[in-house]
Amino acid sequence: MRVLSGTQPSGDSLHIGNYFGAIQQYLAFQQEHEALYFIADYHSMNSVRDANLRREYTLSVALDYLACGIDPARAVLFRQSDAPDVCELMWLLSTVTPMGLLERGHAYKDKVAQGQSADHGLFAYPVLMAEDILLYHADVVPVGQDQKQHVEMTRDIAARFNHTYGEDVLKLPEPYILESVAVVPGTDGRKMSKSYDNGIAMFASEKAIKKAVMGIVTDSTPVEDPKDPKGHLFQLWSLFANDVDRAELFERAAKGGLGYGELKKDLLGRILDFFAPMRERRVALEARLDEGEDILEDGAKRARMLGEPVLAAAREAAGLGGPR
Ligand code: TRP
Repeated sequence: MRVLSGTQPSGDSLHIGNYFGAIQQYLAFQQEHEALYFIADYHSMNSVRDANLRREYTLSVALDYLACGIDPARAVLFRQSDAPDVCELMWLLSTVTPMGLLERGHAYKDKVAQGQSADHGLFAYPVLMAEDILLYHADVVPVGQDQKQHVEMTRDIAARFNHTYGEDVLKLPEPYILESVAVVPGTDGRKMSKSYDNGIAMFASEKAIKKAVMGIVTDSTPVEDPKDPKGHLFQLWSLFANDVDRAELFERAAKGGLGYGELKKDLLGRILDFFAPMRERRVALEARLDEGEDILEDGAKRARMLGEPVLAAAREAAGLGGPR
């Protein structure tokens, strides 16, 4: 089984919700399956308009992933634009993609609904994403709920191409919806999300992490009163505790005498311990940027090798180029 997923380089730093919601599953996939993970720098062109920033953000996502344990010996980690065949396949797919399908795309619809004018790139974005998936014959695409529509469009576009030019040129992928393994609430109790600005960033300074943890919103139950262990502070804490610790803490919470300040301090310690090896690796990677570049280059080579025969088959089926 081949698993593939992409991440847009937007400059946002990873938060612990990303880790428990997606990255942990990427790590599990690389153990058991052929995995391709790429940084979608072509996609970022719809939002990031500064060349230097794009380069910086793209490398930064790669280093984050490597620090988290994406292992180039197991998974193919690459930068999308290092395998530019995607742009050719995108054209082939564009010609069988109905306008109506793209008009229903939510990224495009949202922008227009906000009264902003959209570029063709944003409109055509689902075709670029389809091509990312189809070029590599991916079986399974782990994505968040917000990207499910795009994987469904991908299936639709692939089916249309196959129907037009031959049955099996492109493989229809299955979405795998990343239901957070655990619920990761943000500091304000809503789902942790960069759009709510309630995240705890994994690779931020210790000081910034401390500030976020100490800022977790709680009610004003006095220290001596019993606490409800269903609250988001307890949920966050539970991510970093084993069953024994959890049972013990919940008992103390029920009895009263456990203060939120104490719990936050303990949580901070656990977060720093848990992510310490990754944070150390991130610093080490930052100090040897050319190593990161080498990994991406090698990943791109492997990705191109996987994509070339698929593009060749699609060209052949569509009658492009001279006779073979
Ligand atoms: N569009 C995705 C996002 O914004 C990123 C992405 C691009 C992607 N190409 C992909 C995800 C292919 C999965 C497969 O999150």
